[in-house]
Amino acid sequence: MTRTPDPAPGSSADASPRREPAPALADTQRAHWQQTYHAHPGMYGEQPSAPAEHAARAFAAAGAHQVLELGAGHGRDALHFARSGFSVLATDFSPTGLAQLRGAAAEHGPAERVRTAVHDVREPLPLPDASVDAVFAHMLLCMALSTEELEALVAEVRRVLRPGGTFVYTVRHTGDAHYGAGTGHGDDIWEHGGFAVHFFPRELVDRLAEGWHLIEVHPFEEGELPRRLWRITQETPR
Ligand SMILES: C[S@@+](CC[C@H](N)C(=O)[O-])C[C@H]1O[C@@H](n2cnc3c(N)ncnc32)[C@H](O)[C@@H]1O
Repeated sequence: MTRTPDPAPGSSADASPRREPAPALADTQRAHWQQTYHAHPGMYGEQPSAPAEHAARAFAAAGAHQVLELGAGHGRDALHFARSGFSVLATDFSPTGLAQLRGAAAEHGPAERVRTAVHDVREPLPLPDASVDAVFAHMLLCMALSTEELEALVAEVRRVLRPGGTFVYTVRHTGDAHYGAGTGHGDDIWEHGGFAVHFFPRELVDRLAEGWHLIEVHPFEEGELPRRLWRITQETPR
């Protein structure tokens, strides 16, 4: 069988315009979140979320002092943790959201208990092993993250938590009205109105809890749609 040689780069057979690889969905989402926080400063309001109020009580009962928040946005919940007496490192891949958090902390306090770091959770967490007592993430794990990226992230959360540390996170799930609406990206990720969401099936919760103590999977609703979520609490073994 004769094989037609591959065209040399730049030859006439290679005349079609070169295409840059499409940016990863999470990269386009980062730009979208940046624009959203820019256009709607403080969009989630000043009051803490119900899961953050619950987590603050759970963290205090567990004797926690250092809290890491992932996907903190403009910081309604980070401020609640700081005002409840915890030292908080709030991270997000939107510098605009975090700047709004620093502004609010500087204006109303307590700025001394809040630190921020721009960080994309697809990268390893910028903390040493066993360096925090508690981790909180409200509607972060259900962003444009593949199952593989979620497994890597939860392994990182486990690495930075001290033994017996608590992880409270929330996700929209497959019972949500927007599951299956809009543009499908595979892996239960659907994009609607410019926002991509990974809707969790229950098996994914169990998979991410392997090797942890799964304490609770609590269903709740938020907002006008309403968004249908689970609040998951799990602890690292002592
Ligand atoms: C639904 S918002 C929730 C914000 C905040 N937790 C709250 O409830 O007020 C999701 C947040 O996750 C952030 N985010 C999305 N993907 C991320 C990623 N790969 N790494 C870090 N932050 C991300 C967004 O910038 C946004 O602030």
